[in-house]
Amino acid sequence: MSNKVNRPVSGASMGSDIDVLKANRTKLTVDLSAIRRNVDFARELHPHSKVMPVIKCNAYGVGAEQIAHDLQKHGVDAFGVENIYEALCLRKSGVTLPIVVLDGCVPENIDAALDEDLIAGIASIELLKEYDKAASKKKKKVKVWLYYNCGLNRSGYSDLDEFSNFVQLSSEMDNVIVECIYSQLSDSHNDFDFTLTQVENYKSAISVAKKVYGEQLETSLYASHGIISKVGNVDSNWIRPGLMLFGENCFSANMSDEIRASALNLIPALNLESRLVHKVKIKEDTTFSYTQHNKVRKGETLGTVSIGYGSGLFPNGGDDYFMYDQTQLPLKNSAIGMDFSQVQIPSGCDIPLYSWVTIFGGKNEHRKSLRDFSISMKISPYALLTSLKVAREYKNGLLNE
Ligand SMILES: Cc1ncc(COP(=O)(O)O)c(C=O)c1O
Repeated sequence: MSNKVNRPVSGASMGSDIDVLKANRTKLTVDLSAIRRNVDFARELHPHSKVMPVIKCNAYGVGAEQIAHDLQKHGVDAFGVENIYEALCLRKSGVTLPIVVLDGCVPENIDAALDEDLIAGIASIELLKEYDKAASKKKKKVKVWLYYNCGLNRSGYSDLDEFSNFVQLSSEMDNVIVECIYSQLSDSHNDFDFTLTQVENYKSAISVAKKVYGEQLETSLYASHGIISKVGNVDSNWIRPGLMLFGENCFSANMSDEIRASALNLIPALNLESRLVHKVKIKEDTTFSYTQHNKVRKGETLGTVSIGYGSGLFPNGGDDYFMYDQTQLPLKNSAIGMDFSQVQIPSGCDIPLYSWVTIFGGKNEHRKSLRDFSISMKISPYALLTSLKVAREYKNGLLNE
């Protein structure tokens, strides 16, 4: 394993020596070559589409700059982020590809978007007018993607007349260039038929928009689960992979075997590991960790692993296990504390002190997916990943190896 530790892009900025010290306890290893292969898999499934990796929220906590630079070199077509601040961080770090600010952001930040030639994702007439006004003042044109609400109901117009009015208005603005219509499915990991109804809504919205802008207007619908499941067989100009970049998915058992088998082509890119820092041999039946909920028997051995909610691991009520080599170390979720988690060390498991223990990731048939871990921790993989505050180590990059 490489010793290269990259500094976190956001959050506390530390010297690299200090990062190494941090990584000696707990680290998320990110295999950039696996991320590139997952992009290639998305491309194979949608050979006519351009690829816009979505690296919002610091690439789901994994490291937006490192991933963006690697994928820029790998030949993706654009990046999607959530807000202008994230986009500017990427620009400052040297990312030159188009960046779509998926949430459009707030009016006060628009000047910065125009200065850096960002593309604004816009869901409301109010924000569209603000962009038009700001672009006019700067004597610039702003490129926008218009959002259609096909059922997520987080933003945008779902009513076709309202959406049509939105599109019509955009076409009457002097300083706005509409490049693309995009939408986001809400349950494509779980409900095929329900998703089909959203796809039908989306198709109606696209035909409304194309009546105004013509056939050359670009379109985008699928994020990870749509890319893999291809619900409704939408052939759009752009696909927007997020979670699948990391080799992960959330398909439920409701989805067909074929779709879930397709997801097996993803290559796991993440490994979360921490060190066993204490072993406690129990002398009599008693309890462990705070309060008296966790019972332990005389003769058992407990292990203390240096990851807790200070590193983003939350006790949510489920129980799981960490892995040492091929051995499961049962974890009492209620024994997750601020800076530690306590596991039971099975008899016969001779784990040396300071060994690395796998929280998720690992190799081959003993691999534990982020998805399975987050299910047992009763948290979504998105929430778990973005919560992690641990050192990150990047390997197999195109730029730094
Ligand atoms: C508009 C949009 N597109 C794409 C994505 C990527 O989603 P996923 O991680 O499920 O691929 C997101 C994620 O939040 C999003 O908001």
